Parts: sequence; C-alpha cells; structure tokens
Amino acid sequence: MPTIKFAVLPGDYIGPEVMAEALRVLEHVARQEGLVLEARPADVGGAGIDNHGKALPDSTLRLCERSDAILFGSVGGPKWEKLPPKEQPERAALLPLRKHFTLFANIRPGLLYKELKAASPIKDERIADGIDIVCIRELTGGLYFGKPKETTTLADGDLQAVDTMVYRKSEIERITRTAVETARSRKRRLCSIDKANILETSVLWRRTVSEYVARHAPDVELSHMYVDNAAMQLVRSPNQFDVFVTENMFGDILSDEMAVICGSLGMLSSASIGTGKNSLGLPFGLYEPAGGTAPDIAGKGVANPCAQVLSTALMLRYSFGLEKAAARIEAAVRKAVTGGARTADIAFGGAAVGTRGMADAIIAAL
Ligand code: IPM
Ligand code: MN
Repeated sequence: MPTIKFAVLPGDYIGPEVMAEALRVLEHVARQEGLVLEARPADVGGAGIDNHGKALPDSTLRLCERSDAILFGSVGGPKWEKLPPKEQPERAALLPLRKHFTLFANIRPGLLYKELKAASPIKDERIADGIDIVCIRELTGGLYFGKPKETTTLADGDLQAVDTMVYRKSEIERITRTAVETARSRKRRLCSIDKANILETSVLWRRTVSEYVARHAPDVELSHMYVDNAAMQLVRSPNQFDVFVTENMFGDILSDEMAVICGSLGMLSSASIGTGKNSLGLPFGLYEPAGGTAPDIAGKGVANPCAQVLSTALMLRYSFGLEKAAARIEAAVRKAVTGGARTADIAFGGAAVGTRGMADAIIAAL
C-alpha cells in the first residue's frame, strides 16, 4: 500500500488543539485498518504571519502541492485584526488556497443527531429526528473572485466600490455534477437555490442546472427556490431539503444559517474539492471544520474536536477513497456523543469532557 501524504495546517487558537486530537483519532483508525498515512505539518494564518511574514507562506503552499490533500484547522483572531483586510489570515490564507487549487465545490453536511436536538434554536417538533441535509456551495466564482473588484474615486469626488458577480456555464455545470453525485449518495433530491427573478447570473444558473439534470441525472428529483425564500424555509423546516446547491455568496450565508440550526459549530465539518487529481487519481481537496478559531476558549482544553475529526473522515472519503474508514470515524463520533461524551458546547449544562476526553471517547468507540 503506497503512503498517502497530507498537509496538516492547524492554524491559530483552538486550531492546533482540535487538530492534535483529530490526528490521534486518525492514527488509531490507520493502525486498525492497516493504512499508511503521513501527516506533514506547516504554518498557516496567524502562525504563518508570525513565523514567515505571510498568512500563506510559500513553503506551506509548496508542501500542499506535493500532498494528496490538505487537512485544515482554522485561522485568524484578535491578534491579527489590526492588519489591513487583504492581509488578514482568513482572506490571505483561505481564499488563495481555494483559488490556487480551484477548490470549486464546498460540501457542508448539516447534521444534528436527534440526541442533540436541544442545541438547536428550532422547535423540537420540527426536527423530531434531528437534521440531516447537505449544502453544496460553489467556492471559486461569483462575487468573491469576479473582476472588476475595486474602489475608485469618481469625477465628482464620490467614492465607488464594485464587486462583480460572474459565472460561466462550465462552472455551473461542474458544481451541478458534484451536487448530483451527492444527491445520488442520499435521497436523490436536489434543490437549486438562486435569485433568478433578479440576477442574470441566476438565470444562467437555473437554466444550466435544469439542462444538466434533465440530460445527465433524470433519476434525481430537482427543484428550484429563490434564495430569500430558502433562508426562510431552512428555519421553518430544514429537512424539506436533502441536498441544496447554490452560488458562492448565497452558500456562504445559507451555510452559516444551517450551522446555527444544527446546534453547535463544533460538530460541523466541510470538504472543498478541487478540479485537480492527487497521486491516488482522486480529487485533491481541503478539509476543515466549519467553526472558527474560538479565541475565547483557546488554551483551555475545552474545544469540541468533533468537527475536525469529521473533516478528517471527509478527507478519507473524497481524497483517499477510504469509505470504510471514513464511515467508521463518523459512526464512532455519533456513538461517543449520543453515548454521553459531550464537550461544554453540547453538554447543556451537564457534565462535560474536555477536548482530549472527547477524542478518547471517539477512540474507545472505534
Ligand atoms: C467560510 C468563511 C470564509 C468565506 C471567509 C473566512 C473567507 O466565512 O468559509 O464560509 O467567506 O468563504
Ligand atoms: Mn462563511
């Protein structure tokens, strides 16, 4: 079995704390399954700025290029907030990584175990069995990257800023393919979210998604929804969705909404899949928890490592083709949490375990 090499970029504040535990879980699974994995750590975000003068140091980027995937922690925090926006860890590390590796498909599972229902702000009866949906967000197009993107002084002295929302048909097609594949692995229901009553990009989006599904995936049940309505439907009755797919900015906003209805950010993983293939012939990807660096609880050993552990499972699934190991990790997290091992964010005032204790429970469940 060839060695699978992945870059480990823990980042800042709780990033390294949860990463250490996720790697411990991964080592355990690797030993059980006879996998040969090589974790290659490097600085990113604030750690990159402090140690190399840049949020995404060249040495880190080179290491990622020579790896089969990136396991990412989280970046940013008060220490670097005074820097100009363009140099801040979030913008100067994550966005260039997404662009450099064309990580166009962001897969965010919205999963809430029914045992954790109380963590959700949604009324109990609306989520009787918990929540199980998936957000597929386009990640390298739209307003985030479209040109022109600038601030200019007009002839009358007024200031004007412009961001550009732009999509090519081919970009919409490739994200639709990811969404279709995801829907096929679930209930085969796909909802495409846009603003086709107003936006030109959305008109092309809707037409392209419809044509693609009619042609390549007639087995998938497709619906369309305007984004404002979708924001409302998501809090009214989240499980009416199975998989939804949307453009970059809409997906940024809706996925945060999804995160809050799923209770704790500490439980949500994500995968960003690229156009490139790794040495295994599988998609190169970046895997990261949905939550941030949580500076307020950093250094206390209380952060929830589940999102980082679950992101590791997604890396095994999508970039390494190790479905069995991935499913075993997901089952172990579920078993540990529903069996009562809870970090403070999901303990509802009951007895809580720390970061390490949570990982111990996951390992025990394996
Ligand atoms: C996310 C984040 C990023 C985004 C920021 C940190 C650039 O909010 O991954 O959702 O807006 O995409
Ligand atoms: Mn976001």
